[in-house]
Amino acid sequence: MIPVITLDGPGGSGKGTVSKLVAEKLGFHILDSGAIYRVLAYAALKRNVDFTDEEALCELARSLNLSFVPMEEGVSAVLDGVDISKEIRNETTGSNASRVAALPRVRAALLDRQRAFQQAPGLVGDGRDLGTVVFPEATLKIFLDASAEERARRRYLQQKSNGNPQPLEQILEEIRIRDDRDRNRPVAPLKPADDAVTVDTTSMTVPEVVSRILELAAGRNIAPL
Ligand code: C5P
Repeated sequence: MIPVITLDGPGGSGKGTVSKLVAEKLGFHILDSGAIYRVLAYAALKRNVDFTDEEALCELARSLNLSFVPMEEGVSAVLDGVDISKEIRNETTGSNASRVAALPRVRAALLDRQRAFQQAPGLVGDGRDLGTVVFPEATLKIFLDASAEERARRRYLQQKSNGNPQPLEQILEEIRIRDDRDRNRPVAPLKPADDAVTVDTTSMTVPEVVSRILELAAGRNIAPL
């Protein structure tokens, strides 16, 4: 059985940064499942596919020519040979992603694509439903959380360092709307798996969160390189 560590949680809880560091320490592969939903929303917009047309979105989800390419600064999302990593990172795409992600058949169409990331020596995946739906047999399930205000603050600083800051109030509002949609959708809602360990990162530093997860992983016989 190839080990899988899942990190689920709301936007801005630190999943992306933490997964990358944990995967590096363990020498594991990485799955940013949110990026798949973001690419789908981006491609739908480009091709004029309506966000309510579930059939057309399913078709698009199945046919996406998408790959993730490891680069020095992280993993790049490449769609039809074009690196669209930057384009999918804005809040509009995040919000559109949460709209397409609320459609049950679209989620089903993306399951195999996500499960294919379970490759030796192991996988660290982050998202909303990796522990509950995509990898229910995962070796270790983490639910990362943080207050909405702290998550908005982190997003704000992230965008500022990318040279593209939005007002903090606006980010907080968008985070609240997206959380609400992700938590209350009928299919695969954002919630901790019954056997997940919740880590509240509101007042923790990134290295503290990484150590905590490595400690929990060691308890499941997953050791750093
Ligand atoms: O994590 P990220 O902000 O990139 O995710 C974008 C959106 O994709 C989320 O708001 C959520 O609606 C959706 N998503 C999901 N299931 C996942 C990962 C992301 O529904 N496993």
